[in-house]
Amino acid sequence: MCGIVAASARRDVSDILIAGLHALEYRGYDSAGIAVQADGLIERQRTEGKVRALEDLLQESPLHGPCGIAHTRWATHGIPSTRNAHPILSGERLALVHNGIIENHEALRRELADAGFEFTSETDTEVIAHLIAHLMDAGNDLFGAVRRAVERLHGAFAVAAVCAAEPGVVVGARRGSPLVLGLGFGEHFLASDIHPLLPVTNRFVYLEEGDVVRLEARGFEVRDAGDQAVERPVHEADLSADAVQRGDYRHYMQKEIFEQPQAVAETLEGRISATRVLPNIFGVGADEQLARVRNVHIVACGTSYHAGLVARYQLEQLAGIPCMAEVASEYRYRRPVVPEDTLFVAISQSGETADTLAALRHAREAGYVTTLAICNVPESSLVREADLVLMTRAGPEIGVASTKAFTTQLVALQLLMLELARLNGMDAAAYEACVADLNRLPELLNRALELDAELERLAERFVDKHHALFLGRGSHYPIAMEGALKLKEISYVHAEAYPAGELKHGPLALVDSDMPVVAVAPNNRLLEKLVSNIEEVHARGGELYVFADVEAEASFSERHGRLIKLDAGGALLAPVVLTVPLQLLAYHVAVLRGTDVDQPRNLAKSVTVE
Ligand code: M6R
Repeated sequence: MCGIVAASARRDVSDILIAGLHALEYRGYDSAGIAVQADGLIERQRTEGKVRALEDLLQESPLHGPCGIAHTRWATHGIPSTRNAHPILSGERLALVHNGIIENHEALRRELADAGFEFTSETDTEVIAHLIAHLMDAGNDLFGAVRRAVERLHGAFAVAAVCAAEPGVVVGARRGSPLVLGLGFGEHFLASDIHPLLPVTNRFVYLEEGDVVRLEARGFEVRDAGDQAVERPVHEADLSADAVQRGDYRHYMQKEIFEQPQAVAETLEGRISATRVLPNIFGVGADEQLARVRNVHIVACGTSYHAGLVARYQLEQLAGIPCMAEVASEYRYRRPVVPEDTLFVAISQSGETADTLAALRHAREAGYVTTLAICNVPESSLVREADLVLMTRAGPEIGVASTKAFTTQLVALQLLMLELARLNGMDAAAYEACVADLNRLPELLNRALELDAELERLAERFVDKHHALFLGRGSHYPIAMEGALKLKEISYVHAEAYPAGELKHGPLALVDSDMPVVAVAPNNRLLEKLVSNIEEVHARGGELYVFADVEAEASFSERHGRLIKLDAGGALLAPVVLTVPLQLLAYHVAVLRGTDVDQPRNLAKSVTVE
């Protein structure tokens, strides 16, 4: 997964392209590059590392021109290096940027090498550049050559290309990876998503699977997968470029943690009243389909999978509905046994995660009642392909570590749970109590954020550690998993989560005075069991940190280690509220360790390759 941005205008586009790359760095930051076409020449600069390094290079040797393409890379084929950085050239005449994976690149590489093309990188991308050049040698213009080239590619891709012979022309194509066209006044743009283009336009065309587009400053033309000229609808985005600014926060992750009360309020806005979940929030006619549902299968990756695991507990516990949650990379390759009347739910912040999308497509063949996407990006492939949709409305999440996307997913899943519970005859008083709880969630999240300074101090205790254990029970086991994922992802401290009852079946052997053990302690019927597990850690000299609901405080004493108390708000809300201090702990540990909080090593925000 990489980021692509391209432009054709009547002004110099290099600054637009570089600013666009910054907005796309969440997709990868192993290397960056730009190619500009001017006066019948293509000039290129590229470098290993982040866009900032490319900017330094451009300070020394600037590039200017009215038409160009740029790329930020997350390496798949070939190590992160300047040699493998995009744009990739075919000779001096064609430059190309690519997001995705070409599965038949070996066969194409042999064929093109036999035809005399010289390969200078280890990337799969280079076969696309040479294939297009080869087809141009056979008499095609750039648009025709790209259309013919994509017919030969297996795998997922979004590409943008320019050639020296066609001034002001950019050609793009997409299959399996996102690409959006931005419509300016007398200028046109392409990008992997709308954010890099928000400073120059708010009018977009979302290209569809198999589309190929030719754009110039004065206009554009789209051909569909069957090579027919098509008109795609133009959408106006109501997002402003400011929505993706960091403001006074030190990191995007910090900003996004603090945005959670507002983000959750947006998730709930217009979806619940004081007493009920409002009708048809999943789309018109959805309620009839949901009334049939007797089982739920949830599929997702990473943090979104953790949200699915919490929902599994809550759906079974509160709504009495059997639920399975599974990681998408496993689900997509098995033949699921689907009980009658089962709902399929895919959860994804980006809506572009390759495994989750593949799982949704797999599910469509498997006989579910219907498919539902819980997602944060309205224009994403997942939203377009699912039958029903519930947007989380977290707003743009830039930090690679997912924070507000997770808590809003939990809330969206709780709306689903309540709707299914009501349709399955949940006790009216219990239902109304859950709705009332949800209405006070933003306030509880605000109060949880007041722990920030305490957690900043606590983080000092973790800064020199190499490992940490996270414990939870029931719906708080996935919260422990999420706390561990946050810590390892951004601070590089190895952290593992266990259901607290599993401790004595192996991991207890790891516990000594150098092993911080974090326990998530809501006030519920499992509290006593958890306290016993905490005793086991204490008895082995473990260093304990208990994140506890205020109502559970009386169950702990000094020997249970350091207590971090907050009002977690009861069974429904506690998983959401207890997440916040775990995020803050991970954030402050990472800051103290001096890691790259928003762009941790080896990762990318949106995993659009398998
Ligand atoms: O966009 P998605 O929600 O589908 O992404 C899934 C995972 O890649 C993502 O949650 C990942 O685990 C995050 N980096 C975790 O913070």
